[in-house]
Amino acid sequence: MNEKYIIDQENKLMANVFSKRPIVITKGQGATLWDINGKEYVDCMGSYGVALLGHCHPKVVAAICKQAQSLISCHASLYNDKRTEFLEKLTSITPQGLNKAFLSNSGAESVECAIKLARKYTGKPEIIAVMGGYHGKTMGALSATWDKKYREPFLPLVPEIKHAPPDNLDKIKEAITDKTAAIIVEPIRGEGGIRVPPDGFLEGLRQLCNEKNVLLILDEVQTSFGRTGKLFGCEHWGITPDVMCLAKPFAGGLPIGITVAKEHIMSSLKVGEHSTTFSGSPLVCAAGCAAIDALIEENLTENAAALGKYFKEQLEELQNKHSIVKEVRGKGLMIGVELRFEVFSAILRAAEKGVLILDAGRNVLRFLPPLVITKTQIDKVISVLDTVLKEEENARTAGSSVSH
Ligand SMILES: Cc1ncc(COP(=O)(O)O)c(C=O)c1O
Repeated sequence: MNEKYIIDQENKLMANVFSKRPIVITKGQGATLWDINGKEYVDCMGSYGVALLGHCHPKVVAAICKQAQSLISCHASLYNDKRTEFLEKLTSITPQGLNKAFLSNSGAESVECAIKLARKYTGKPEIIAVMGGYHGKTMGALSATWDKKYREPFLPLVPEIKHAPPDNLDKIKEAITDKTAAIIVEPIRGEGGIRVPPDGFLEGLRQLCNEKNVLLILDEVQTSFGRTGKLFGCEHWGITPDVMCLAKPFAGGLPIGITVAKEHIMSSLKVGEHSTTFSGSPLVCAAGCAAIDALIEENLTENAAALGKYFKEQLEELQNKHSIVKEVRGKGLMIGVELRFEVFSAILRAAEKGVLILDAGRNVLRFLPPLVITKTQIDKVISVLDTVLKEEENARTAGSSVSH
């Protein structure tokens, strides 16, 4: 299969719902990807945050190969040793008190479970999310997601899920009613443009939820597993939610979703009220055990903090050089660079030069590299971005830009 054939076939046979780069990736190691022609890329997309340990982490590869030879699937109506081991490891790292989990297959599913759990536990229907928030695209999760381009084609969505302005305790307080079951927020809004809340907001939200007897659901699908320089994003502000949504990197690259809650809350779901066929499959759990071990043994959370600081400083220097850079923000290796124009042509230019970058909305370059990225690779990203920003500035001055 050659490059053109693969691109044509995917375009023809797969739903055209992804904003594709014209690149065929066939191999990965650490924070490096190679395309079908052997061209090398520094991967700051990180499979949208999944490849946090780096591609093909040897411990994860070994665990998957070993487990695949004994048992791949095992429905959760039977017990399984790897599932137990994974649940033990998981609840040994989750914030204190969050010790009962539902295992699923994606971030959106982890949110679906959290919404159902909040309604079941409280007996109330209403969920408050925030404007600019992102929680996935299944109908329940989509109802909590803000962006109208994702929502409008699919109306009506799940009723009684509404949005309040973000980072604004007064407005959220006003939105709470007798029917409110829960408030769901991301500790740092990822898709919404890497928006870090002001200090005091999440602490205040925790307090407000306590006062109003409303559950606090933190969607840590993008902010957890060391990404921000702490194991969980909420640790930056010293708060613990009642329910937490996890996914992306927790199984070293295999599909996983996790809803973890306080024991008495999760126990409100009774047999049959929620399930998925793949819940806690041995293969995924074996990969998950290896992923947690690798994260801790290799001090990757600390790495994210240190390298994230370096990366951000270098990006801030670029901001000083290029007036088209509006702001650099983020924590650890979850970084956003807001430009004064749409970013997609800059992303394509960077890809041509061997650096893969994500967007977050129209104007923000988003960096979610594996936490094993090296300083040398960060330096390459900065040098490529420097050139790309210059080219974009020139293209704008000349009144043209790369089409996409
Ligand atoms: C904060 C957050 N929640 C939920 C999701 C949805 O996860 P998935 O795409 O695995 O369904 C995402 C995905 O990017 C996310 O960033």
